[in-house]
Amino acid sequence: MAVHNYFVASFILICLPGTQLQKIFPVPRVEDQAYWHAQATADIEHAIKVATTQNWGIAKNIVMFVGDGLGITPTVAGRIYKGQRRFGHSGEEGYLSWEKFPHLALIKNYNLDETIPDSGATATALFCGAKGNFYTLGLDHGVKRDQCMESLNQKNWQSSIMSWAQDANKDTGFVTTTTVTHATPAALYAHSPSRYWECDASLGEIGHGCRDIAKQLVEDAPGKNAKVIMGGGRLPLGASKFPTIPRICKRNDGRNLTHEWVVSKSVHGHTVKYVQTAEELLSADVSKTDYLMGLFDKGHMNFEAERDKSPRGQPSLANMTSVAIKILSKNKRDGFFLMVEGGRIDHALHLTESKRALEDIIAFDEAIQTGLSMLDLSETLVIVTADHSHVMTINGYSKRGNDILGISDVKSAIDDMPYPTLMYTNGPRYAHYWDGKKVRRPDVRKEGTSSLGYQPTVAVPDIYETHSGDDVAAYATGPMSHLLHSLHEQSYIAHVMGLAACIGPYRDNCTRPEIQLFRLHNRHTNLL
Ligand SMILES: *[C@@H]1O[C@H](CO)[C@@H](O)[C@H](O)[C@H]1NC(C)=O
Ligand SMILES: *[C@@H]1O[C@H](CO)[C@@H](O)[C@H](O)[C@H]1NC(C)=O
Ligand SMILES: *[C@@H]1O[C@H](CO)[C@@H](O)[C@H](O)[C@H]1NC(C)=O
Repeated sequence: MAVHNYFVASFILICLPGTQLQKIFPVPRVEDQAYWHAQATADIEHAIKVATTQNWGIAKNIVMFVGDGLGITPTVAGRIYKGQRRFGHSGEEGYLSWEKFPHLALIKNYNLDETIPDSGATATALFCGAKGNFYTLGLDHGVKRDQCMESLNQKNWQSSIMSWAQDANKDTGFVTTTTVTHATPAALYAHSPSRYWECDASLGEIGHGCRDIAKQLVEDAPGKNAKVIMGGGRLPLGASKFPTIPRICKRNDGRNLTHEWVVSKSVHGHTVKYVQTAEELLSADVSKTDYLMGLFDKGHMNFEAERDKSPRGQPSLANMTSVAIKILSKNKRDGFFLMVEGGRIDHALHLTESKRALEDIIAFDEAIQTGLSMLDLSETLVIVTADHSHVMTINGYSKRGNDILGISDVKSAIDDMPYPTLMYTNGPRYAHYWDGKKVRRPDVRKEGTSSLGYQPTVAVPDIYETHSGDDVAAYATGPMSHLLHSLHEQSYIAHVMGLAACIGPYRDNCTRPEIQLFRLHNRHTNLL
């Protein structure tokens, strides 16, 4: 029965002639043969241009955008959502701001000891160049989760792209919507056997003798040398003494690390700015700011859908990205490294709240759009990727242009009811029930599936939805971006960045092959 339905539906979707398609589905153009052929011709011209104008130059700047949890399925959902909400289109035919980059690859994101990875070890692979174990940060195969003693042995440490960039006199910084001590940014600057040791209070007995992540940020290189630090996290940095909030680390030692950071920069004669609101950030005089720390929340910053957009509220990810680029690009001679994380996409997906996640994906899209409008792509390598994906799925079968947050246009052949297009295999809502005769589920037509807090029912109940083990994509443009071309290990990405900018392991080993064929865009051609 199920098989039969599948074939019927496929037939309807695939075999309708163009004119009939137009009548049934509202699309902005007539999608006849001429339309598709013209589109393919333009795409081929573009592909040939890309292949014959590869940029083998040296990247002066590197900007890396990480969508936390933004696997391929959430990306497709985000693309459709953007088209529907922003442009009133059917949605499928559009692109997110990075989806037309000339190069992309698939990325294997497993951890050394787990098929389905966590964000700490994936960020370690992305930024440091070798995979680590589940929940660890800035460490290699020699340290497993919570092994404090082993993590103190510097033989097991990995250095990150942020160190490599600083060693080459580049300015560095990062922006996130989570706490600045959270797993992804922390892998840039910390060596910790637990991503959860964000402040001293969470070390406990097992972490005795280890240094918390916030302390490593303000006291140790490369964290203390970062010129831009933005996100949430006043509590782990001791800048707020606000009562405890769930799952956010609050300092026990009474130190105000933000204050210490400000003082340590000021005594060396640098101009320092600490900001807490959108207004303070956007009115900062970047020409007079050497170091900037923005902590816009006690814990994580708000989800985009609930962000206070007033001047006294929190800046958008795009606002933070633009100020970060303005400050870091003052290093005209040596360039900069910036990491921008859409950190709460992951949290919304863990809640199985699709609309919340899609709004954060749109904010990530805007941040990248803003960044691209400010960067010189002939000398800046831009990589957009995700650390891992989620168990979200896009269920069949909906007609073209159906609300991505809506319900299927077909009903289950078993219980004769539709279901949401976006669902998850596990997560917090388990609403199947036994009516005395058979298993039933709620009628989604009465549920308001497109509301912000809507959670679809799942197959396996759990407090939070989990990550998934499928590959993610990495999109790239700029010098050496063509090295992302195949199925790669996640740790490869750090090496591409190092080689592109001739830093870190590639500082003295950066020769490019002699390729006469290709036009070289970069001004820095001395090593070519
Ligand atoms: C910590 O230091 C920052 C920067 O000087 C200051 O704005 C903040 O109020 C301080 N927090 C506390 C709890 O003292
Ligand atoms: C801040 O971001 C919002 C939306 O992301 C944008 O509309 C606005 O122009 C930005 N403001 C500045 C000063 O960059
Ligand atoms: C330089 O890098 C290449 C890989 O790109 C490697 O095969 C070679 O051993 C490296 N040489 C040195 C001296 O590190």
